[in-house]
Amino acid sequence: MLVSSQWQQQTNIMTMGWHMVMAFTPSLLGCVIDAENHSHAMVRNSGECVINIPSATLVDQVVGIGNCSGSEVDKFKAFELTPGKAKEVSAPLIEECYASFECRLHDDTMIERYNLFIFEVVKAHVAPSADEEESLHYRGMGEFMLSGKSIDRTELFKPSMLV
Ligand SMILES: Cc1cc2nc3c(=O)[nH]c(=O)nc-3n(C[C@H](O)[C@H](O)[C@H](O)COP(=O)(O)O)c2cc1C
Repeated sequence: MLVSSQWQQQTNIMTMGWHMVMAFTPSLLGCVIDAENHSHAMVRNSGECVINIPSATLVDQVVGIGNCSGSEVDKFKAFELTPGKAKEVSAPLIEECYASFECRLHDDTMIERYNLFIFEVVKAHVAPSADEEESLHYRGMGEFMLSGKSIDRTELFKPSMLV
């Protein structure tokens, strides 16, 4: 994922592999943003960010964005990405990503201890092509896995699980 943020006229982007879905209603996401990262203070101070899903074709930018700090580099410029206007938050979307989730900080009680930000998704943007996009999943040690085949087991689920 790419986390875009804005604070005091500055925008930034950070690569993030450590994230999880925590609830459907409200829609909550847990994200680890290390205190050493420039994004940490930007997201904490603004209480907002956008979580963008890049397709596999953006892999080199994904690594590059994770290799440098927004305190030294304007990452939208350096990685030739286009900031888009969000509807509910001030942080920019990344236009080249096929899905973007506008987020507001929902619970800050675990930031100090674990760098764990709990966000509520307040607006989702998903391109019509999303089903055909290959997404990147970071495996550690410089390696990514691509999304691939899917297996349908809808008939085995109890209906209440299919939300
Ligand atoms: C593939 C990849 C995954 C990463 N995942 C995380 C993560 O989940 N949390 C985190 O704090 N940093 C993560 N990083 C490191 C940050 O992206 C990196 O420290 C970046 O320079 C921070 O940018 P900033 O200082 O502009 O915020 C990851 C880096 C890469 C390349």
